[in-house]
Amino acid sequence: MGKCLVMDHPLVQHKVSLLRSKSTGTKEFKELVSEVSTLLCYEATRDLPTEEIEVETPVAIATTRVLSGRKLALVPILRAGLGMVDGMQALLPAAKVGHIGMYRNEETLEPVEYYCKLPADIAERDVMVLDPMLATGASACDAVALLKKNGVKNIKFISVIAAPEGVERLKKEHPDVDIYMAALDEKLDENGYIVPGLGDAGDRIFGTK
Ligand code: URA
Repeated sequence: MGKCLVMDHPLVQHKVSLLRSKSTGTKEFKELVSEVSTLLCYEATRDLPTEEIEVETPVAIATTRVLSGRKLALVPILRAGLGMVDGMQALLPAAKVGHIGMYRNEETLEPVEYYCKLPADIAERDVMVLDPMLATGASACDAVALLKKNGVKNIKFISVIAAPEGVERLKKEHPDVDIYMAALDEKLDENGYIVPGLGDAGDRIFGTK
């Protein structure tokens, strides 16, 4: 069974509170999503493998450690996941970025895939899937299934706010996937919005409403 981790760091909690407020405007919202993503990235990279090397400092030889595992890729689910890329890349500048486009059929609430462009060597990379809202879990599960179909073996799912329904579905369909979130909320409403949540993340990041 994969990890399922809710970040309880005070900075994360503070920034998520600001994100939730309906009086937070687009510019600040986008900056906060980025900052929370950087903090999530810090946590989600905690188990990356390292190896020992020797480095010559101006004073002596230091025995020290560097990252040693497989290369990484970030895969935002369009469109809200795009808001998380900058913040993740702040810590992972060498990660390649793939994109999966999905929209929600408003009647069935099921995702429809309309775009997929992944790095050519995606099967050799460990992948972090980015979506600020893990709501029903439908698009999360589809994105993970698509990555597995492309040969990806190790997948982490990174979200800002999750609903219990989404977490359960992702855990059930893809028990090998580690899930990281900044907050775990109460429930979904009848329109598939997370309660209390923060509204439509895409609209708030891009100012489309
Ligand atoms: N997507 C969003 O942007 N917000 C929600 O609350 C649920 C899904």
